[in-house]
Amino acid sequence: MAPDSSREWEIAGGDGRTCTITVGRGIAGIEHLITRNWPQIAILTQPTVSAMAQDIATKTLARLQVRAPIRVLPDEEGAKILSVVGDTYEWLNSIGFARDGLIVAVGGGALTDVAGFVAATYLRGVEIAYLPTTLLGAVDASIGGKTGVNVDGKNLVGVFRHPGRVVVDLDILDELPPSLLRAGSAEVVKAGFISAVDIIDAYETDGLDVSLDRVVPAAIDVKVKTVIADFREADLRAILNYGHTIGHGIEVAASIPHGHAVAIGMVAAGRIAQEALGFAGSERQRKVLEGIGLPTTSPRVDVAQVRRLMDRDKKRDGAGLRMVLLEDFGHPVVRHVEEDLIRLGLAEIGLVTG
Ligand code: GLY
Repeated sequence: MAPDSSREWEIAGGDGRTCTITVGRGIAGIEHLITRNWPQIAILTQPTVSAMAQDIATKTLARLQVRAPIRVLPDEEGAKILSVVGDTYEWLNSIGFARDGLIVAVGGGALTDVAGFVAATYLRGVEIAYLPTTLLGAVDASIGGKTGVNVDGKNLVGVFRHPGRVVVDLDILDELPPSLLRAGSAEVVKAGFISAVDIIDAYETDGLDVSLDRVVPAAIDVKVKTVIADFREADLRAILNYGHTIGHGIEVAASIPHGHAVAIGMVAAGRIAQEALGFAGSERQRKVLEGIGLPTTSPRVDVAQVRRLMDRDKKRDGAGLRMVLLEDFGHPVVRHVEEDLIRLGLAEIGLVTG
């Protein structure tokens, strides 16, 4: 029997809002997502899960007597562009959406990122609830209030603002195709590497067959505690970017899924940490990622472009590039990294700089 995975967290503060996050099974119904009567509800979704959004709209009309028009945005990163944001504002204008309405976002991490940005900025802020439909969205993107779009680099334009509610239904995640499960697992096991070592053990034993009841609440717990401690990423929250400095560069340059790029980025960071901090876990980390079926070397890519993209990393300061490195599993630190160490990390994932 699966362990009882039902859990609830409340994040208060940071942006002065309160966010309730509920994890469980069979909880995608509107009674969890739309917990009071709203005069207006608008649904933002993406093509792959628009049937789920339609079901929510139908039940909203039947039970709450509120029509919930649906806007389908492009899938994945295609949604995270400013023209989509502009089109969505115009659509909200066209349906007469007002400040006391609720936006419901049904989709993966890219969809909730852009929907959250729209909700944060339309009429200077309207309420929003998320129903994440991918593992990556459930454990990372939907939690912590980072919203935004890509402008040349990843997530360069956005605001910090919590959604009012996040409902993570593990029954939805159980239905995911292996490719999406695998890509999302990178962020779950990242939570293990930086904080919750039980998650590493679980993936080490079961690979992609790991019990979501076991690892999803544990990964969300890591994220919630980190965000409560440092909402605006003044310091601690940067640890959630483990694997992302090099990973984001490869993601954009090679157009590969975020989770794959993060896995490759963690391998590079592991090698750098081995050299810089004596981190002894890089081989174990690589094996765990391989066991999940995630890539541990980069696809063929323009290395100079990856390097340029890395230089736009938001953790960079006047003294140079800063990366999250592990002293040990569960002990992340943020350090400036010199060029020779960056070269070493890139070489570890098959990228040779000129
Ligand atoms: N995805 C990293 C963060 O939310 O800070």
